[in-house]
Amino acid sequence: MNEREPSLDRPLDEFQRDLVQCVELIIERYRTMHDANTHPGVDEAVVKSWFDEALPDAGMPVSELLADVDKTVIAHPTMNIGARMFAYVMSGGTQVSVLAELLASALDQNVAKWHLAPSMTEIERRVIAWTAEFLGFNSDPGGALVSGGSAANLTGLTVARNLFAERAGVREQGLFGMAPLVTYASTQTHASVEKSVELLGLGSANLRKVPTHDDFTIDVAALRQRITADRDGGLTPFCIVANAGTVNTGAIDPMDQLADVAQEFGLWLHVDAAYGGFAAALESKRMCYAGLERADSIALDYHKWLYQPFEVGCTLVRNWQALERTFNKSAEYLDYGAHEARFDFSKHHFALSRNAKAFKVWMTFKTYGAQQLRAMIAKDIDNAAYLADCVEQAEDFELVEHGPLAIICFRYRGEIDSIHVDIADIEHERAQLNTLNARLLDALELDGRIFITGTLLRGKHVIRACIINHRTGRADVDFLLATIRSVARTL
Ligand SMILES: Cc1ncc(COP(=O)(O)O)c(C=O)c1O
Repeated sequence: MNEREPSLDRPLDEFQRDLVQCVELIIERYRTMHDANTHPGVDEAVVKSWFDEALPDAGMPVSELLADVDKTVIAHPTMNIGARMFAYVMSGGTQVSVLAELLASALDQNVAKWHLAPSMTEIERRVIAWTAEFLGFNSDPGGALVSGGSAANLTGLTVARNLFAERAGVREQGLFGMAPLVTYASTQTHASVEKSVELLGLGSANLRKVPTHDDFTIDVAALRQRITADRDGGLTPFCIVANAGTVNTGAIDPMDQLADVAQEFGLWLHVDAAYGGFAAALESKRMCYAGLERADSIALDYHKWLYQPFEVGCTLVRNWQALERTFNKSAEYLDYGAHEARFDFSKHHFALSRNAKAFKVWMTFKTYGAQQLRAMIAKDIDNAAYLADCVEQAEDFELVEHGPLAIICFRYRGEIDSIHVDIADIEHERAQLNTLNARLLDALELDGRIFITGTLLRGKHVIRACIINHRTGRADVDFLLATIRSVARTL
């Protein structure tokens, strides 16, 4: 055998031993994840100290490195994969996605141009078509996989801006000289929409935060008034952002009505479905999503309710031309030869180099099938309803909001007496409960048995449970309430 030039590779049998060591670490972590603490509860300074070292000049054996990693990383994760993670919007990943990520990085495909990643390009296109079918969107959409919901909103709003202002030459001239383009979204909209508006040069002062009804869905009459007032004031209403599941409570805006308004005023309709989009696949929830199929663009997050490990989101648009007109840019080092007819993602998205994000989604669809995925989403919604029932029946808890999906907002009341005689008492109680619940969340994080976070609803600090982990069961919901009680009693 010829001697090879030095490379970073080691002999394959050593690599195989490393892989086996890695697999053993994963299996051990998965074996213990159910009862492991959900939050490491380790001080920031301590964690920092584990990694506080000079740039290594000489390397170390992988087996020793993996042994260190076991102690500092694998032994102390925030247990996103576990069943007792109720914070933010965390879905825990699927086992088959772990395999897919390993294979994808082993093959190191760049899904920029077709000839750089033929199978992965076709897999991404297939995932986009399946996703649209799963949701009941247009049967032949365009789309691109991106890092997550924030990137999906930014991508959708970029397409919106570039097509809306195409005739004014926005790609060449920017927004200079144009009347401000105004975006409309409810007060409950995720901050990534405001960030996107800022990044696109539209200005957050031109994002109208439209009030909501008591159920946190957008007030369409108020929206209509704002659009009319802006138009009459010489501004250019441009885009409505609908929520298909708000981050706070899971509220779903009436998309059919918003599509009507968009059509009437000639506006773009973008739907932020990062949290709630995949629940549109359930027959029982279809009605809540009526009008989704009329969207011009949709932001989705597979690392939310399609149970993928971070990161993977998606922007869907009505067709591929929308993306091409927004992003395509020729370059002599990319466009040569006679391959113009091939499909290149580089012509349909901002990024050139792109990893094979779709692979784990594709393997997930293939392994579980749409039926099993729908069943898991339905199970999560049932478990959230079970939590809402338990909270309602308990004397020491108060249900604040049970949205249409799998987010439940509630408060711990403990022994606080709820009979009041005047406004001052009510104000006092509100302040007391706000303080109690905010302190409780901090204490729960330190306790580490469950991980849950909060939000602010109508001036109330609430505990917010989001149940979108396929591993979470009713026993975990019982454990959640029991843990909150036991920690609250220590305060
Ligand atoms: C409704 C909604 N939109 C957008 C996002 C942002 O998604 P990501 O965290 O993947 O960037 C979230 C995240 O929770 C969300 O719930």
